[in-house]
Amino acid sequence: MTERFNKSFTQQESLPEEAIAAAVEVMRSGELHRYGGSSPETGAAARLEQRFAQYLDLPYCLACASGGYALAIALRSAGVRPGDRVLCNSFTLAPVPGAVHSVGALPVWVDTTPELTIDLEHLQRCAEDTGAAFLLLSCMRGHIPDMERLLQVCNECGICLIEDCAHTMGAAWKGRKSGTFGSVACFSTQTYKHINSGEGGLLVTADPAMMARAVLYSGSYMLYERHRAAPEPSVFEPFLMTTPNQSGRMDNLRAAVLLPQLERLDDNIQRWNRRYQILEQRLRQSADVTLAPRATDESYVGSSIQFRLPQWTGDAIGALVKACRDRGVELKWFGAPLPHGYTSRQDHWQFFGAEDPVVDAGTHPEVPGNREILSTLLDMRIPLTFSEADCECLASILLEEIQGSAQAAGIGRDR
Ligand SMILES: Cc1ncc(COP(=O)(O)O)c(C=O)c1O
Repeated sequence: MTERFNKSFTQQESLPEEAIAAAVEVMRSGELHRYGGSSPETGAAARLEQRFAQYLDLPYCLACASGGYALAIALRSAGVRPGDRVLCNSFTLAPVPGAVHSVGALPVWVDTTPELTIDLEHLQRCAEDTGAAFLLLSCMRGHIPDMERLLQVCNECGICLIEDCAHTMGAAWKGRKSGTFGSVACFSTQTYKHINSGEGGLLVTADPAMMARAVLYSGSYMLYERHRAAPEPSVFEPFLMTTPNQSGRMDNLRAAVLLPQLERLDDNIQRWNRRYQILEQRLRQSADVTLAPRATDESYVGSSIQFRLPQWTGDAIGALVKACRDRGVELKWFGAPLPHGYTSRQDHWQFFGAEDPVVDAGTHPEVPGNREILSTLLDMRIPLTFSEADCECLASILLEEIQGSAQAAGIGRDR
């Protein structure tokens, strides 16, 4: 009998009981706003910021309404102005171009390597050709480039690095945590990330002036002294009259549910990686499948898995996605002609060219590597509600359907 997978790919684990109890306590108190109540300096939002800063061994952290919002104010706080060019991975997700667009800047798309990371040679060329002074780096789907080499390029070209760590909370390069390399870094706590508050974002930096501006942008009014993981009030003073309020604060309720989850993050990373490795080992058995190589210097979080079918046509991949869906296995295909669900790609983000006449060829350098890689790239979530046995079952279904679709499409006949 044909096996079917019956669990949901969007079902996350319940929140830990401590998180539920903490949420109830906040609700009983009525003190949901971070600056209100009897002791805002020790409210959940302030404590979360202190705890996350400590987790990354950085001095400053700001809790925000979403990861995308954190990216937008990180760009502003780093000094990006309307019309500036921002180097970005061409393999990323819609909130990244959205954040660049929200500040009136223009993306310069940088090509993608077979490791699914930013192409560092192309980065250097793009920086030299365009003079762009900012890089918004997403470690997309948790794939981290050689960060030492990347910092070298940034230093040589005078680039300010802004890290998008939406997929790398808890990951590291040579033992140094993702989010600690740039001038500023942003994380998401949206439900499908590594800690879950429904929506939410965390911005971190070691730069006092950048942090002061970010706090003011986030809507602190003149209550910035109530932050704990932030610089002295005197650092804020030069920016008080020149930083517009663009409210996007996190509330105490979300912060309260995140604190206990942060304590479990490192354990959960091990749980994710056991599941990832089962899938990875099994998928390696197929001659059709290419997995993105993982550098030994990378400590990743296997909360999703990506693989390519480099010899396959679009029609064959479309048929595989459908066959897997019919058996309860949800694959996302980055090569699909139209954006679908959470998945879209660079050529779908036409809003820059559409409304800005100053966009020129320099803004859209050719990214042939990205186009080719994404055309055969598949992506699958690994929620922790899947057991290790579930991952074995998923791998079996994938391998069967890959073989079946390959035969149907006549792929690999002469292998
Ligand atoms: C690569 C990337 N960056 C940023 C974000 C933004 O996160 P949020 O949904 O919290 O705005 C996401 C969310 O999916 C993402 O995938």
